Amino acid sequence: MSGLSIHAEDLVKIYRARRVRSRALLGVSLDVDAGEFVSVVGTSGSGKSTLLNLLAGLEPPTSGRIYLGSEPVHRMSEDRLAAFRLRHAGFIFQNFNLFPDLTVLENAAFPLMLQGKPPAARNRAAAALLARLGLGAYLSHLPAELSGGQQQRVAIARALVGAPQIVFADEPTGNLDSATADSVMQILLSEVQERAMTLLMVTHDAGRAACADRIFTIRDGRIENIERGTKRTDEKKKDGLASFSADLPEHADAAAIGCRRSGS
Ligand SMILES: Nc1ncnc2c1ncn2[C@@H]1O[C@H](COP(=O)(O)OP(=O)(O)OP(=O)(O)O)[C@@H](O)[C@H]1O
Ligand SMILES: [Mg+2]
Repeated sequence: MSGLSIHAEDLVKIYRARRVRSRALLGVSLDVDAGEFVSVVGTSGSGKSTLLNLLAGLEPPTSGRIYLGSEPVHRMSEDRLAAFRLRHAGFIFQNFNLFPDLTVLENAAFPLMLQGKPPAARNRAAAALLARLGLGAYLSHLPAELSGGQQQRVAIARALVGAPQIVFADEPTGNLDSATADSVMQILLSEVQERAMTLLMVTHDAGRAACADRIFTIRDGRIENIERGTKRTDEKKKDGLASFSADLPEHADAAAIGCRRSGS
């Protein structure tokens, strides 16, 4: 299975909390190709998490349309959306969001449990992935017994174990020191690349953002700018894999920073 494309049209999100209206997104349209890696940057409060949550079907838009592949996410019922997310999407959050009372193995296998996979099969799949992520010796540990980097690797395993076609990551390295963040990013990118998944990643870190095919900058609820990152190669254009606009400016940091990715 390969990645899922994203098509979003005129997304608006207005939160109403205690009579205060917060205009989080003000008309965002975008396309992400199947297998593409897009990073989303912008200042705090600019609407990055809101955009990610809408595209992932975690929150409904106030108005606008969202398609993941050919599926109209904006029109799906809650139940259908939950089933669709379970089958096709993986999520990684800044604060890991692991279940504190479940072991590492149970956390990583959780989506397969929801999918109804028998225990032996789901534990086998989760254990194999955890071993690849360097956590083979920690299967019976609880999250509280792990370092931040180890917890984030469990979260990556949980996001990838169901072989999703698209991964949504909101500041996946935001709570890690820079060396740990480097290693977590490398693991995430190599897994995503190997399986040709689509990756949408919110980050504050210009260096990590630059590793993408394209970088979307959000400002005050709108896409202000789209640049190319270091991952984008002309091969993609030749393959017809991607409909990148021909002459995107290169991200200012991309050349200077370079990207430490496995396989690159
Ligand atoms: N559940 C909510 N209820 C009310 N307002 C919200 C809610 N979620 C977000 N907002 C508002 O929407 C705007 C965008 O928030 P969002 O979380 O998308 O920002 P962000 O770019 O992810 O910021 P950060 O980098 O700090 O995570 C902010 O003004 C925020 O206060
Ligand atoms: Mg956010």
